[in-house]
Parts: sequence; C-alpha cells; structure tokens
Amino acid sequence: MTRAELLRQGEEVLATHLDQPRREALWIAQFLFGCSAASLLAHDDLSVSPEQAALYQAYLQRRARGEPYAYIRGDAWFYGRRFIVDPRVLVPRPETEVLIALALDWCQHYPTADPLTVADIGTGSGILALTIASELPSARVFALDCSVDALSVARANAVALEVSQRVSFCQSNLLASLGDEIRFDLLLANLPYLPSADIPQLPDALAFEPRAALDGGSDGLELYRALFGQLSGHLAREALVLLEAAPPTLPGLVAIARQHFPHATLTLERDLSGLERVLKMEIGEGRLA
Ligand SMILES: C[S@@+](CC[C@H](N)C(=O)[O-])C[C@H]1O[C@@H](n2cnc3c(N)ncnc32)[C@H](O)[C@@H]1O
Repeated sequence: MTRAELLRQGEEVLATHLDQPRREALWIAQFLFGCSAASLLAHDDLSVSPEQAALYQAYLQRRARGEPYAYIRGDAWFYGRRFIVDPRVLVPRPETEVLIALALDWCQHYPTADPLTVADIGTGSGILALTIASELPSARVFALDCSVDALSVARANAVALEVSQRVSFCQSNLLASLGDEIRFDLLLANLPYLPSADIPQLPDALAFEPRAALDGGSDGLELYRALFGQLSGHLAREALVLLEAAPPTLPGLVAIARQHFPHATLTLERDLSGLERVLKMEIGEGRLA
C-alpha cells in the first residue's frame, strides 16, 4: 500500500464522522510519519509497512469515535510551547491564552521590584502556571489542582519546559491546602465552568475530557463561588485576579466578585473570537475587603 492509498482510506473512514475528513486524515498521517503535509503529499507514492497501516487504522478509529486529536498525538500547543496532554487533563484551548496576555501586560506596570508570587488554581496540564514561569523567570509560581493525575501531567510538563525548580505543585481543593501566610500578586484560574446539565455525552469530544475539569455545578459557578470564599486572605495589597468563564455565566461571576470585593476594579475581557470570556479583577492599595 502507498501513502496516497492510506490517505484515501483515512478520508473514507472519517467521512461519515467528521466535517473535514481529508484534512484530519492528513493530520493523522503527518503525526504517524513525523513529517509535514507538503512532504507527505510530495512523496505519497512511498510504500507503507503493515505496522504503520495498522497504527493508522487505530488512530483513525479513535478519532472517528470523537476522541480529541490532542489525546491521539499526546500533545498540544499553548502560547508557543508544547505541552504533554492525555485524558487526565483538559486539552488546552486557544481562548485561555488571553489570560497570559493580560497577565504579562499587567506585570509591566506592577509597582514592585520584588519577584511576583503567582497562583494557577486548577492547573490541569499546567499551561498557565508553566507559561508564566517561562515568561517571568523571577516569579515564584504555585500550581494547584485537586487531581493527583492532573498534577502528574503538569509536573512532566514542568520538567520538559525546564521550569520545575521554580514551580511548587500542590494537591489542594482550591486554596484550602495553602498556608495562610502565602499571598498572591497574580492569581489565574480556568476552573470548570460548564453547568452540569450542559456537559455533552459521547461521541462529543468534550465527553472524553475529565468531568472534574468541566463540571461547574448547577449554574457553572460553584467552583468560583467557593474560590471567592477563600480568596481575600490570599491576595497581596495590589493584586490581579484573572478568571476564565463561559460567556453566559460572566454576569453571575461579576456579582460574586462584587459581593466579596466591593472596591475592586472589575473588567470583562474578550477572547480571540470576540466573546467576553475573562473577568479581570484589580485590587488596589487599601482596597482589600
Ligand atoms: C477547566 S480545567 C483547566 C485546566 C488548565 N488550567 C487549562 O486552562 O487548560 C479545570 C481544572 O481544575 C481542576 N479542579 C476542579 N475542581 C477543583 C478544585 N476544587 N480544586 C482544585 N482544582 C480543581 C480540575 O482537576 C482541572 O484540572
């Protein structure tokens, strides 16, 4: 069998399941052969071994069942860096990059020469904590998650990105396991924010991701409500809090934030699709509730 025949077979298998069968068949073949699309198509008369053909079939079947491509590959890109991902963690979303852009912008104007203390609550694969540690080499970063499995993936990513010396990993229900003395200048969180009733069933790709990474309770805000209950003792006098949430739940999140921090400056920030996605909360000097 040639690579061209393999691709045709792939397209046929995926055609009844996915919107872009040709493109996806090509992506999976690129991953299999470890080459670019251009090189694959330029040399599609090369022959394929029986082992390669069997592996390709296995990948196709997984993708046809709806499994995210990132789990098949075992990695995903976030803010220009490669992260290991598997079914123990959420697949990184491009919209989450907005939190990094906002955080880095804010840091440029932060009025202290001291290293920043940063928290990423619900770190999953570690994309937020490890990107901040990579971008701000002097920052002291805490990566927290309730899932031991997720923390294993985040630790592996820290090693791969060579930042493990500067990141503290902690299994914790939100901030509960942290000592009272730790106060954050910058706190980021992309906590589960889907209302429980909106979590889709298989074969939707979301259903392959850990339920604990998606389920935000009856209104999608249960985790954020609990987080705000723990927050005031853990923020520096001038702090920035960035929280990602589903656009329809943001008004509710603003109300919770306002209740706990009546004097904070609250702004809603848009994601790359133009949807309001992030609550930005700035605590100013003397404004802590
Ligand atoms: C939506 S995922 C986000 C993962 C990663 N930060 C990202 O943006 O891709 C939410 C993460 O929060 C964690 N989580 C859920 N409930 C938690 C809790 N009570 N305390 C700490 N982490 C929690 C989940 O295990 C999951 O890894």
